[in-house]
Amino acid sequence: MSEPAKKPITLIDYHPPSGDIRQEVLDGLAQPQKRLSPKWFYDEEGSRLFDQITRLPEYYPTRTELGILHTHIAEMAGMIGSCVAIVEFGAGSSVKIRILLDILETPAAFIPVDISGEHLLDAARQLAMDYPDLEILPVCADFTQPFDLPVPVAAVNRNLVFFPGSTIGNFDLEQARQLLKVMAIEAGAGGGLLIGVDLKKDPATLESAYNDDAGVTADFNLNLLVRLNREIGADFDLGQFTHRAIYSEEKGRIEMHLVSEKDQSVNIDGQLIEFLAGEHILTECSHKYELQEFADLAGEAGFNIRKVWTDPERMFSVQYLELGYEPKDFTRDRVRHIPSAVPNPRRKRTSPSPFPETCGPQAVSRPAGIR
Ligand SMILES: C[S@@+](CC[C@H](N)C(=O)[O-])C[C@H]1O[C@@H](n2cnc3c(N)ncnc32)[C@H](O)[C@@H]1O
Repeated sequence: MSEPAKKPITLIDYHPPSGDIRQEVLDGLAQPQKRLSPKWFYDEEGSRLFDQITRLPEYYPTRTELGILHTHIAEMAGMIGSCVAIVEFGAGSSVKIRILLDILETPAAFIPVDISGEHLLDAARQLAMDYPDLEILPVCADFTQPFDLPVPVAAVNRNLVFFPGSTIGNFDLEQARQLLKVMAIEAGAGGGLLIGVDLKKDPATLESAYNDDAGVTADFNLNLLVRLNREIGADFDLGQFTHRAIYSEEKGRIEMHLVSEKDQSVNIDGQLIEFLAGEHILTECSHKYELQEFADLAGEAGFNIRKVWTDPERMFSVQYLELGYEPKDFTRDRVRHIPSAVPNPRRKRTSPSPFPETCGPQAVSRPAGIR
Protein backbone atom coordinates (compact mmCIF):
# COMPACT_ATOMS: atom_id res chain seq x y z
CA MET A 1 0.00 0.00 0.00
CA SER A 2 1.18 3.57 -0.76
CA GLU A 3 2.54 5.59 2.17
CA PRO A 4 2.44 9.36 2.31
CA ALA A 5 5.62 10.89 0.88
CA LYS A 6 8.01 12.04 3.59
CA LYS A 7 8.64 15.35 1.89
CA PRO A 8 6.81 17.38 -0.77
CA ILE A 9 8.27 16.83 -4.21
CA THR A 10 9.50 19.99 -5.88
CA LEU A 11 10.02 20.30 -9.59
CA ILE A 12 13.32 21.75 -10.72
CA ASP A 13 12.04 23.53 -13.80
CA TYR A 14 14.21 24.93 -16.58
CA HIS A 15 11.06 25.78 -18.59
CA PRO A 16 12.47 23.99 -21.64
CA PRO A 17 10.14 25.10 -24.44
CA SER A 18 10.73 28.78 -23.45
CA GLY A 19 9.54 31.32 -26.00
CA ASP A 20 10.98 29.70 -29.09
CA ILE A 21 8.44 26.98 -29.94
CA ARG A 22 6.96 29.36 -32.54
CA GLN A 23 10.32 30.06 -34.17
CA GLU A 24 11.39 26.41 -34.12
CA VAL A 25 8.09 25.39 -35.71
CA LEU A 26 8.36 28.07 -38.41
CA ASP A 27 11.98 27.08 -39.12
CA GLY A 28 11.00 23.40 -39.36
CA LEU A 29 8.12 24.12 -41.73
CA ALA A 30 10.34 26.33 -43.91
CA GLN A 31 12.63 23.40 -44.82
CA PRO A 32 12.26 21.56 -48.16
CA GLN A 33 11.16 18.50 -46.15
CA LYS A 34 8.80 20.12 -43.67
CA ARG A 35 9.39 18.80 -40.17
CA LEU A 36 8.30 19.27 -36.57
CA SER A 37 10.35 18.16 -33.59
CA PRO A 38 8.97 15.13 -31.72
CA LYS A 39 9.76 16.89 -28.46
CA TRP A 40 6.56 18.94 -28.93
CA PHE A 41 4.45 15.76 -28.76
CA TYR A 42 4.54 15.60 -25.01
CA ASP A 43 2.08 18.12 -23.63
CA GLU A 44 -0.29 16.66 -21.05
CA GLU A 45 -2.57 15.10 -23.67
CA GLY A 46 0.40 13.82 -25.69
CA SER A 47 1.89 12.15 -22.61
CA ARG A 48 -1.50 10.57 -21.85
CA LEU A 49 -1.83 9.28 -25.42
CA PHE A 50 1.70 7.91 -25.34
CA ASP A 51 0.84 5.93 -22.22
CA GLN A 52 -2.14 4.50 -24.12
CA ILE A 53 0.12 3.58 -27.07
CA THR A 54 2.36 1.56 -24.78
CA ARG A 55 -0.59 -0.69 -23.95
CA LEU A 56 -1.70 -1.32 -27.55
CA PRO A 57 -1.53 -4.91 -28.83
CA GLU A 58 0.44 -3.89 -31.95
CA TYR A 59 2.97 -1.85 -30.00
CA TYR A 60 5.52 -4.53 -29.08
CA PRO A 61 8.38 -2.32 -27.72
CA THR A 62 6.97 -1.56 -24.26
CA ARG A 63 5.77 -5.02 -23.33
CA THR A 64 8.88 -6.65 -24.80
CA GLU A 65 11.21 -4.32 -22.91
CA LEU A 66 9.21 -4.86 -19.70
CA GLY A 67 9.50 -8.63 -20.21
CA ILE A 68 13.27 -8.38 -20.58
CA LEU A 69 13.55 -6.17 -17.50
CA HIS A 70 11.42 -8.50 -15.36
CA THR A 71 13.30 -11.59 -16.50
CA HIS A 72 16.83 -10.26 -16.00
CA ILE A 73 16.49 -7.56 -13.36
CA ALA A 74 18.42 -9.47 -10.68
CA GLU A 75 21.44 -9.80 -12.95
CA MET A 76 21.15 -6.14 -13.95
CA ALA A 77 20.97 -5.02 -10.32
CA GLY A 78 24.04 -7.09 -9.48
CA MET A 79 26.03 -5.25 -12.15
CA ILE A 80 24.69 -1.81 -11.18
CA GLY A 81 25.51 -2.22 -7.48
CA SER A 82 24.48 -0.18 -4.43
CA CYS A 83 24.16 3.53 -3.61
CA VAL A 84 23.64 4.66 -7.17
CA ALA A 85 22.03 7.94 -8.18
CA ILE A 86 19.70 7.03 -11.03
CA VAL A 87 19.16 9.71 -13.66
CA GLU A 88 16.36 8.82 -16.06
CA PHE A 89 16.35 10.79 -19.33
CA GLY A 90 12.78 11.15 -20.69
CA ALA A 91 11.21 9.56 -17.62
CA GLY A 92 7.57 9.90 -18.74
CA SER A 93 5.31 8.08 -16.30
CA SER A 94 8.24 6.61 -14.36
CA VAL A 95 6.82 3.11 -14.68
CA LYS A 96 9.86 1.07 -15.66
CA ILE A 97 12.08 2.53 -12.97
CA ARG A 98 9.95 0.75 -10.36
CA ILE A 99 11.23 -2.60 -11.54
CA LEU A 100 14.75 -1.41 -10.78
CA LEU A 101 13.88 0.39 -7.55
CA ASP A 102 12.22 -2.75 -6.20
CA ILE A 103 15.44 -4.69 -6.39
CA LEU A 104 18.36 -2.23 -6.17
CA GLU A 105 20.29 -2.15 -2.93
CA THR A 106 19.85 1.25 -1.24
CA PRO A 107 19.55 3.50 -4.29
CA ALA A 108 20.85 6.96 -3.30
CA ALA A 109 18.32 9.01 -5.29
CA PHE A 110 16.14 9.06 -8.37
CA ILE A 111 16.41 12.04 -10.73
CA PRO A 112 13.75 11.80 -13.45
CA VAL A 113 14.31 14.26 -16.31
CA ASP A 114 11.57 15.11 -18.78
CA ILE A 115 10.40 17.95 -20.98
CA SER A 116 6.77 17.51 -19.93
CA GLY A 117 6.78 19.13 -16.49
CA GLU A 118 3.27 18.51 -15.22
CA HIS A 119 3.27 14.87 -16.21
CA LEU A 120 6.73 14.47 -14.68
CA LEU A 121 5.65 16.03 -11.38
CA ASP A 122 2.51 13.86 -11.15
CA ALA A 123 4.59 10.75 -11.80
CA ALA A 124 7.24 11.81 -9.25
CA ARG A 125 4.57 12.41 -6.57
CA GLN A 126 3.04 9.02 -7.22
CA LEU A 127 6.46 7.42 -7.00
CA ALA A 128 7.20 9.25 -3.73
CA MET A 129 4.12 7.69 -2.15
CA ASP A 130 5.25 4.24 -3.13
CA TYR A 131 8.93 4.79 -2.22
CA PRO A 132 8.77 7.13 0.80
CA ASP A 133 12.44 6.64 1.73
CA LEU A 134 13.76 7.46 -1.71
CA GLU A 135 14.89 10.96 -2.51
CA ILE A 136 13.23 12.00 -5.78
CA LEU A 137 14.46 15.09 -7.59
CA PRO A 138 12.44 15.67 -10.78
CA VAL A 139 14.03 17.94 -13.37
CA CYS A 140 12.02 19.51 -16.18
CA ALA A 141 14.52 20.10 -18.97
CA ASP A 142 15.22 19.44 -22.61
CA PHE A 143 17.87 16.76 -22.36
CA THR A 144 19.23 17.66 -25.79
CA GLN A 145 20.40 20.93 -24.24
CA PRO A 146 22.87 21.34 -21.38
CA PHE A 147 21.42 21.37 -17.87
CA ASP A 148 22.78 20.74 -14.38
CA LEU A 149 21.55 18.00 -12.12
CA PRO A 150 20.67 18.45 -8.44
CA VAL A 151 22.87 16.84 -5.82
CA PRO A 152 21.25 14.15 -3.66
CA VAL A 153 21.49 14.10 0.11
CA ALA A 154 22.83 10.58 0.39
CA ALA A 155 26.37 9.74 -0.56
CA VAL A 156 26.59 8.36 -4.06
CA ASN A 157 28.82 5.52 -5.19
CA ARG A 158 28.24 6.13 -8.89
CA ASN A 159 25.68 7.43 -11.32
CA LEU A 160 23.46 5.26 -13.45
CA VAL A 161 21.78 6.83 -16.47
CA PHE A 162 18.54 4.98 -17.24
CA PHE A 163 17.21 5.49 -20.78
CA PRO A 164 14.52 2.93 -21.54
CA GLY A 165 11.82 2.92 -24.22
CA SER A 166 14.28 3.10 -27.14
CA THR A 167 13.92 6.88 -26.97
CA ILE A 168 17.48 6.91 -28.38
CA GLY A 169 15.84 5.80 -31.65
CA ASN A 170 14.07 9.16 -31.95
CA PHE A 171 17.42 10.79 -32.69
CA ASP A 172 19.33 10.54 -35.94
CA LEU A 173 22.80 9.03 -35.78
CA GLU A 174 24.67 12.26 -35.17
CA GLN A 175 22.21 13.44 -32.51
CA ALA A 176 22.28 10.01 -30.84
CA ARG A 177 26.08 10.18 -30.77
CA GLN A 178 25.93 13.60 -29.08
CA LEU A 179 23.26 12.47 -26.62
CA LEU A 180 25.32 9.43 -25.64
CA LYS A 181 28.23 11.77 -24.98
CA VAL A 182 26.07 13.93 -22.70
CA MET A 183 24.97 10.76 -20.89
CA ALA A 184 28.60 9.76 -20.55
CA ILE A 185 29.31 13.09 -18.87
CA GLU A 186 26.38 12.66 -16.47
CA ALA A 187 27.36 9.09 -15.70
CA GLY A 188 30.98 10.11 -15.04
CA ALA A 189 33.99 7.81 -14.75
CA GLY A 190 32.90 4.36 -13.66
CA GLY A 191 29.24 5.26 -14.18
CA GLY A 192 26.76 3.13 -16.04
CA LEU A 193 24.01 3.34 -18.63
CA LEU A 194 21.04 0.99 -18.74
CA ILE A 195 19.35 1.57 -22.08
CA GLY A 196 16.52 0.07 -24.12
CA VAL A 197 17.31 -0.25 -27.83
CA ASP A 198 14.79 -1.41 -30.42
CA LEU A 199 16.19 -3.80 -33.03
CA LYS A 200 15.82 -4.13 -36.79
CA LYS A 201 13.12 -6.58 -37.83
CA ASP A 202 10.61 -7.22 -40.60
CA PRO A 203 8.94 -4.03 -41.86
CA ALA A 204 5.37 -5.40 -41.48
CA THR A 205 5.78 -5.82 -37.70
CA LEU A 206 7.33 -2.37 -37.45
CA GLU A 207 4.69 -0.59 -39.52
CA SER A 208 1.81 -2.21 -37.70
CA ALA A 209 3.27 -1.05 -34.34
CA TYR A 210 3.01 2.57 -35.50
CA ASN A 211 -0.32 2.28 -37.37
CA ASP A 212 -2.56 0.73 -34.71
CA ASP A 213 -6.14 -0.23 -35.55
CA ALA A 214 -7.60 1.87 -32.71
CA GLY A 215 -6.00 5.01 -34.16
CA VAL A 216 -4.28 6.05 -30.93
CA THR A 217 -0.95 6.71 -32.68
CA ALA A 218 -2.83 8.83 -35.24
CA ASP A 219 -4.38 10.86 -32.39
CA PHE A 220 -0.93 11.18 -30.80
CA ASN A 221 0.56 12.48 -34.06
CA LEU A 222 -2.35 14.88 -34.76
CA ASN A 223 -2.24 16.17 -31.18
CA LEU A 224 0.92 17.99 -32.24
CA LEU A 225 -1.22 20.21 -34.50
CA VAL A 226 -3.80 20.67 -31.72
CA ARG A 227 -0.97 21.91 -29.53
CA LEU A 228 0.33 24.32 -32.17
CA ASN A 229 -3.19 25.70 -32.71
CA ARG A 230 -3.53 26.28 -28.98
CA GLU A 231 -0.04 27.49 -28.11
CA ILE A 232 1.25 29.47 -31.08
CA GLY A 233 -1.93 30.66 -32.78
CA ALA A 234 -1.82 28.23 -35.73
CA ASP A 235 -4.98 27.28 -37.62
CA PHE A 236 -4.26 23.72 -38.81
CA ASP A 237 -7.50 22.10 -40.00
CA LEU A 238 -7.28 18.73 -38.23
CA GLY A 239 -9.61 17.08 -40.71
CA GLN A 240 -7.21 17.89 -43.56
CA PHE A 241 -4.10 16.14 -42.22
CA THR A 242 -3.69 12.37 -41.90
CA HIS A 243 -1.30 10.23 -39.89
CA ARG A 244 1.05 7.89 -41.78
CA ALA A 245 3.93 5.73 -40.54
CA ILE A 246 6.29 3.91 -42.92
CA TYR A 247 9.53 1.99 -42.49
CA SER A 248 12.50 3.14 -44.55
CA GLU A 249 14.79 0.12 -45.05
CA GLU A 250 17.46 2.42 -46.43
CA LYS A 251 17.53 4.59 -43.31
CA GLY A 252 16.63 1.80 -40.88
CA ARG A 253 13.86 3.82 -39.32
CA ILE A 254 10.12 4.26 -38.93
CA GLU A 255 9.06 7.70 -40.14
CA MET A 256 5.85 9.27 -38.87
CA HIS A 257 4.24 11.87 -41.07
CA LEU A 258 1.25 14.16 -41.17
CA VAL A 259 0.05 14.21 -44.76
CA SER A 260 -1.83 17.17 -46.20
CA GLU A 261 -5.09 15.96 -47.76
CA LYS A 262 -5.34 18.88 -50.20
CA ASP A 263 -3.64 22.05 -51.36
CA GLN A 264 -4.04 24.36 -48.40
CA SER A 265 -2.39 27.15 -46.49
CA VAL A 266 -1.99 27.31 -42.73
CA ASN A 267 -1.68 30.56 -40.86
CA ILE A 268 0.79 30.46 -37.98
CA ASP A 269 0.58 33.64 -36.00
CA GLY A 270 0.48 35.79 -39.13
CA GLN A 271 2.75 33.67 -41.38
CA LEU A 272 1.23 31.61 -44.18
CA ILE A 273 2.62 28.12 -44.80
CA GLU A 274 1.60 26.48 -48.08
CA PHE A 275 0.94 22.73 -48.40
CA LEU A 276 0.38 20.77 -51.60
CA ALA A 277 -1.99 17.81 -51.59
CA GLY A 278 0.04 14.77 -50.50
CA GLU A 279 2.86 16.86 -49.05
CA HIS A 280 3.89 15.63 -45.62
CA ILE A 281 5.42 16.92 -42.42
CA LEU A 282 7.97 14.55 -40.86
CA THR A 283 7.11 14.45 -37.16
CA GLU A 284 9.11 11.56 -35.72
CA CYS A 285 11.74 9.03 -36.68
CA SER A 286 12.32 5.86 -34.74
CA HIS A 287 15.64 4.30 -35.66
CA LYS A 288 16.13 0.58 -35.26
CA TYR A 289 19.57 -0.89 -34.65
CA GLU A 290 21.60 -4.01 -35.25
CA LEU A 291 23.40 -4.90 -32.01
CA GLN A 292 26.81 -4.18 -33.54
CA GLU A 293 25.67 -0.81 -34.94
CA PHE A 294 24.64 0.33 -31.48
CA ALA A 295 27.81 -1.01 -29.84
CA ASP A 296 29.89 1.03 -32.31
CA LEU A 297 27.88 4.20 -31.66
CA ALA A 298 28.06 3.84 -27.87
CA GLY A 299 31.77 3.06 -28.11
CA GLU A 300 32.34 6.45 -29.71
CA ALA A 301 30.94 8.05 -26.53
CA GLY A 302 33.30 5.98 -24.39
CA PHE A 303 30.82 3.30 -23.30
CA ASN A 304 31.75 -0.37 -23.20
CA ILE A 305 28.92 -2.88 -23.50
CA ARG A 306 28.96 -5.13 -20.47
CA LYS A 307 25.85 -7.14 -21.24
CA VAL A 308 22.99 -7.26 -23.73
CA TRP A 309 19.70 -8.95 -22.92
CA THR A 310 17.06 -9.64 -25.59
CA ASP A 311 13.70 -11.38 -25.77
CA PRO A 312 13.68 -14.84 -27.42
CA GLU A 313 12.58 -13.36 -30.80
CA ARG A 314 15.31 -10.69 -30.62
CA MET A 315 12.79 -7.91 -31.16
CA PHE A 316 14.19 -5.57 -28.50
CA SER A 317 17.28 -5.25 -26.34
CA VAL A 318 18.16 -3.89 -22.93
CA GLN A 319 21.85 -3.14 -22.61
CA TYR A 320 24.12 -2.32 -19.70
CA LEU A 321 27.13 -0.19 -20.56
CA GLU A 322 29.92 1.25 -18.48
CA LEU A 323 32.40 4.04 -18.90
CA GLY A 324 35.96 2.99 -18.48
CA TYR A 325 37.23 6.56 -18.35
CA GLU A 326 36.13 10.18 -18.29
CA PRO A 327 35.39 11.12 -21.90
CA LYS A 328 38.06 13.51 -23.12
CA ASP A 329 36.53 14.96 -26.25
CA PHE A 330 33.40 16.35 -24.64
CA THR A 331 34.28 18.00 -21.39
CA ARG A 332 31.79 18.79 -18.63
CA ASP A 333 32.51 22.50 -19.03
CA ARG A 334 30.83 22.37 -22.39
CA VAL A 335 27.57 21.27 -20.79
CA ARG A 336 27.66 23.49 -17.72
CA HIS A 337 26.41 26.91 -18.56
CA ILE A 338 23.15 27.01 -16.64
CA PRO A 339 23.55 29.98 -14.32
CA SER A 340 23.16 30.28 -10.60
CA ALA A 341 19.40 29.76 -10.33
CA VAL A 342 20.04 26.03 -10.45
CA PRO A 343 18.19 24.56 -7.52
CA ASN A 344 20.62 22.55 -5.48
CA PRO A 345 18.91 20.74 -2.62
CA ARG A 346 22.13 20.37 -0.69
CA ARG A 347 22.82 24.12 -0.73
CA LYS A 348 19.26 25.14 0.01
CA ARG A 349 18.52 22.80 2.87
CA THR A 350 18.05 24.53 6.21
CA SER A 351 16.45 21.76 8.24
CA PRO A 352 17.49 18.14 8.66
CA SER A 353 16.60 16.00 5.69
CA PRO A 354 13.74 13.52 6.15
CA PHE A 355 15.67 11.09 3.98
CA PRO A 356 18.00 8.59 5.53
CA GLU A 357 21.58 8.94 4.35
CA THR A 358 21.56 5.32 3.46
CA CYS A 359 25.06 5.10 2.09
CA GLY A 360 27.77 6.00 4.57
CA PRO A 361 30.44 8.57 3.77
CA GLN A 362 32.90 5.76 3.24
CA ALA A 363 30.97 4.94 0.09
CA VAL A 364 31.48 8.38 -1.45
CA SER A 365 33.56 8.49 -4.54
CA ARG A 366 31.82 11.44 -6.18
CA PRO A 367 28.41 13.07 -6.05
CA ALA A 368 25.84 12.97 -8.79
CA GLY A 369 25.07 16.04 -10.79
CA ILE A 370 26.88 19.33 -10.33
CA ARG A 371 30.56 18.74 -10.05
C1 LIG B 1 8.96 7.53 -25.64
S1 LIG B 1 8.65 8.32 -24.11
C2 LIG B 1 9.48 7.19 -23.02
C3 LIG B 1 8.97 7.26 -21.61
C4 LIG B 1 9.58 6.27 -20.68
N1 LIG B 1 11.03 6.50 -20.48
C5 LIG B 1 9.36 4.87 -21.14
O1 LIG B 1 10.29 4.19 -21.49
O2 LIG B 1 8.21 4.43 -21.11
C6 LIG B 1 9.71 9.62 -24.26
C7 LIG B 1 9.73 10.56 -23.08
O3 LIG B 1 10.83 11.42 -23.29
C8 LIG B 1 10.41 12.76 -23.08
N2 LIG B 1 11.19 13.56 -23.99
C9 LIG B 1 11.19 13.53 -25.35
N3 LIG B 1 12.07 14.40 -25.84
C10 LIG B 1 12.65 15.01 -24.77
C11 LIG B 1 13.64 15.99 -24.62
N4 LIG B 1 14.23 16.52 -25.68
N5 LIG B 1 14.00 16.36 -23.38
C12 LIG B 1 13.41 15.81 -22.28
N6 LIG B 1 12.46 14.86 -22.36
C13 LIG B 1 12.08 14.47 -23.58
C14 LIG B 1 8.93 12.80 -23.36
O4 LIG B 1 8.26 13.83 -22.67
C15 LIG B 1 8.48 11.41 -22.94
O5 LIG B 1 8.03 11.37 -21.61
